[in-house]
Amino acid sequence: MVLSVDMDETGVSAASAPGKVILLGEHAVVFGRPAIALAIDLRLRCSIRRSEELTLNGQPMDERAGPYISTVLREHCRGIPVAVNIASELPSGSGLGSSAAVTVAALGAISASRGNIDPEEVARRAFDVESVVQGRASPIDTSIASHGGGIFISSQREENLLWEISRDTRQWFIHDCAVPEMTLVIGFTGNKAPTGPLVAKVRRYADRSGFAREIIDEIGQLTLDGLGRMRTGDIEGLGRLMSKDHNLLTILGVSTPALQKLVDAAMPYSYGAKLTGAGGGGSMIALTDRPEKVAEAIKGRGGMPFIVRTGVEGVRTEE
Ligand code: MEV
Repeated sequence: MVLSVDMDETGVSAASAPGKVILLGEHAVVFGRPAIALAIDLRLRCSIRRSEELTLNGQPMDERAGPYISTVLREHCRGIPVAVNIASELPSGSGLGSSAAVTVAALGAISASRGNIDPEEVARRAFDVESVVQGRASPIDTSIASHGGGIFISSQREENLLWEISRDTRQWFIHDCAVPEMTLVIGFTGNKAPTGPLVAKVRRYADRSGFAREIIDEIGQLTLDGLGRMRTGDIEGLGRLMSKDHNLLTILGVSTPALQKLVDAAMPYSYGAKLTGAGGGGSMIALTDRPEKVAEAIKGRGGMPFIVRTGVEGVRTEE
């Protein structure tokens, strides 16, 4: 996949991709355990046009400021200078998939410059980019940003397979997963947390502790249980599993006092609440039928609430 060399200086190619929440299974998924992710209605839009020099939002491109976009351009634009513009509703470093969304939207814009966007192709290329920039990762964030809706990822092939992705000895099967009617409220702590160091931290713990490996297995089991509850629409049961997952992630060392504060604030009005994504800061989610109450409670404890719609469209062409 490369930028169309026919694209002229006036032609603009644009695409957008959604952010995501991980409902169950983050971190354990890096070790091949199952996980469930949902696309959310906070999007990131990326446009690309030929230019005299390489710029990002009107400024000379700085690899350190935009490592994901720089890597996409290096690997897919064959040195053609382009002006890139990014507009995002997703706070960066919030655990809501902004890095995957920028990577997927940029690859989407490049694909669109040649015709259609193929979400599978974009998901594969985006995972390559994420692995280069972030180090060890699973394809969950890049696959949900490409496919949208809901995905269930596992080391075994099941029904509704979308695609399969392998890296070293690990193999993930990515499946489409129906999203039941449910309301989620996100609480962003305001603390940015890059994913790579948190994944490395959990890996170090798992490498030296059988107990940590048991916790990872337990998260995998609980995620399978959660998938069943999503299928039967057992929202209360799903909420209980989310809270249990949060406790297990806390034992793995990726929660923070700020995340715990927001989870505690949401719980009186929720079926369940947990950190979402890598942790170490970032965001939590609450499953509730009282979203305004939860949003107010999160705000009251210094968090930034978002009442979101889930299961939205994946990567798409924009005008
Ligand atoms: C981050 O959104 C999810 C993690 O499981 C990392 C990954 O899967 O690459 C923490």
